Amino acid sequence: MYIKSDREIEIMRSAGRIVAEALEKMKEVIQPGITTREIDQLAEEYIRKSGGVPAFLGYNGYPASICASVNEEVVHGIPGPRVLAHGDIIGIDVGAFYKGYCGDAARTFEVGNCSEKTKRLLRVAEESFFAGIEYAQEGNRLFDISHAIQVHVESNGYSVVRSLVGHGIGKNMHEDPQVPNYGLPKRGPRLTAGLTLAIEPMINEGKFHVRTLSDGWTVVTSDGSLSAHYENTIVITANGPEILTKL
Ligand code: MF3
Ligand code: CO
Repeated sequence: MYIKSDREIEIMRSAGRIVAEALEKMKEVIQPGITTREIDQLAEEYIRKSGGVPAFLGYNGYPASICASVNEEVVHGIPGPRVLAHGDIIGIDVGAFYKGYCGDAARTFEVGNCSEKTKRLLRVAEESFFAGIEYAQEGNRLFDISHAIQVHVESNGYSVVRSLVGHGIGKNMHEDPQVPNYGLPKRGPRLTAGLTLAIEPMINEGKFHVRTLSDGWTVVTSDGSLSAHYENTIVITANGPEILTKL
């Protein structure tokens, strides 16, 4: 686990701001009729205009700057000609490098207006992130975060995806440690100030099992149920957690 200096954290605040602003821009245009490719193009333009470099583009051959995952797609949906429809939900995941450091965040948005039942799924995904970072404090253990996320999700009747996890982040998009969204409290590495993490609960309305489509990227729920994703890059400080991918 690589602990960042104040200078590095300051750069990561800038990377995080670009990511947060890109998400805001995308949110403004998400409505019935837009294609996921148009959303991707907007994000790439915005990141480059801000002096950043899209972090996903070319990563293990990934062909776009965002992941756009609709309805039963959990993560890593590839932008393309798909037209969004009223009542869909769309997970948008975006990352950017700025001066050599990475920010990574995701939100799940409704397209037009989705049902109350679906809104609750989106709300619980977001809440579970906040339930988790409450434990992102010096002296705690990593899986205290994981456990708090799991408890919030499962007590609301949803399941936590097991096979995909959050991660350390910095000069690389993915660094140690892995950050599962489930686990036992008082276990895992000790948390210290200067640790930067991408915490990203992925939660399903049905069972937690997922599979990957033949495009090699798109992860979907095995039972076809809806899925929501919420992610921020954070830093642990002596005064508690700070979200870097927020305005
Ligand atoms: N935000 C993602 C993550 O945390 C996904 C990026 S996968 C990519 O791992 F290939 F699109 F880059
Ligand atoms: Co991530």
